[in-house]
Amino acid sequence: MSQNLETAGPPTVEITVAGKSIKAREGETIIHALWQAGLGHEIQTGCVGGVCGACTVTLRFKDGRRGGTDLACLRPVEEGMEVFPFPVDALAGPPPVSDPDADKLRAVFPTVDRCTKCDNCTVACPMDIPVMDSVLRMQKGQFEEVAEDFTTCIHCGLCRAVCEDKVLPHTMGLWVRRSLGRSVDHPALDQTQETTMSDQAEQEWEHLLNCDDKERLQRAKAFRAE
Ligand code: SF4
Ligand code: SF4
Ligand code: FES
Repeated sequence: MSQNLETAGPPTVEITVAGKSIKAREGETIIHALWQAGLGHEIQTGCVGGVCGACTVTLRFKDGRRGGTDLACLRPVEEGMEVFPFPVDALAGPPPVSDPDADKLRAVFPTVDRCTKCDNCTVACPMDIPVMDSVLRMQKGQFEEVAEDFTTCIHCGLCRAVCEDKVLPHTMGLWVRRSLGRSVDHPALDQTQETTMSDQAEQEWEHLLNCDDKERLQRAKAFRAE
């Protein structure tokens, strides 16, 4: 396999994954390089598109280039890269509450005040979420901003895994978002949606049962075009 890689296509680089040396095509992701080498089992995967957060790894370069944490399904290989699987266990947090505030957060997460502002969590986040700033916002109860911060969170857990003070930033962010969601007046929302939907459905049935074939066909084409 590595012979083919060397004679055709883009240049190759050499990386090590969990101590095993493999050749990879420049520009391909760590996961694709592992699959090519028959070592896909070394790193767990899910979506292979940067969405599920399953393929967390730590990276190191002996020549002093900056390593850190990343997602193996998104990170392209580089010459001399050393890859270490770094699976992060899921952690079921406490249940959300209605009308969350800083006191309610502290009651379930006393860890929130342990933050030493080291910023490791922000550096570790593959989605560029300002995790440390968000923890500081949690301390002040600025939950709308926190919810916004965590909008793009893929729940990889890296920020939690690298936090030496066990502050649990991701788990708290999730709790804030769920608690805010729980505080929305769902029955009123559901009722409005239900009424609108049932009115639309009624009209649609009425039309389907009574219009002629030609009109029905035109309507279907217009719907498909949309
Ligand atoms: S890694 Fe932990 S202690 Fe450091 S800034 Fe983030 S939450 Fe605070
Ligand atoms: S905030 Fe934490 S759990 Fe969410 S994507 Fe960033 S590192 Fe992963
Ligand atoms: S496999 Fe889902 S984020 Fe990498």
